[in-house]
Amino acid sequence: MNDLLETGVEEAGISFVLNGRPVRHVVPVRRNLVDFLRHDLGLTAAHVGCEVGVCGACNVRVDGAVVRGCLMLAVQVDGLAVDTIEGMNDSGEIAGLQRAFVACNALQCGYCTPGMLMTACELLRQNACPSRGEIRDAISGNYCRCTGYQSIVDAVALAAQGGQP
Ligand code: FES
Ligand code: FES
Repeated sequence: MNDLLETGVEEAGISFVLNGRPVRHVVPVRRNLVDFLRHDLGLTAAHVGCEVGVCGACNVRVDGAVVRGCLMLAVQVDGLAVDTIEGMNDSGEIAGLQRAFVACNALQCGYCTPGMLMTACELLRQNACPSRGEIRDAISGNYCRCTGYQSIVDAVALAAQGGQP
């Protein structure tokens, strides 16, 4: 990737798997992943907040790990698998979390919600029964400007229990 930036090449062709489907695209080598997903591919669930890796609004999953879409270049996903909240919604992977967020009133403006869901999903994959402290730790890298943290923790805990409120 650094080689690409240093050669003066403006664009590069990439192929990767997006939400389970193969994709080929030509991208500016300096375009970050979240801008590429939003502006070139129309996948606008991942949001842009701080653009410096602090807020978690831009979280996407690359080869199974949640990453900051604002800190990764689109050309870096060449040959990898990318999952966005759109794909995780369509597959039903986050259905329990989505129901729990609604049940617990864990959505206010919703700006942080896709990033929160992405992070919560990763937590529950690694730890099916987290404590409230573990949930707080997991979402500590996701900012909610509406400060709805209490309800968000409630929602993740509810989803972990797999139950209704
Ligand atoms: S926009 Fe990427 S972490 Fe805030
Ligand atoms: S619900 Fe508004 S930023 Fe979190």
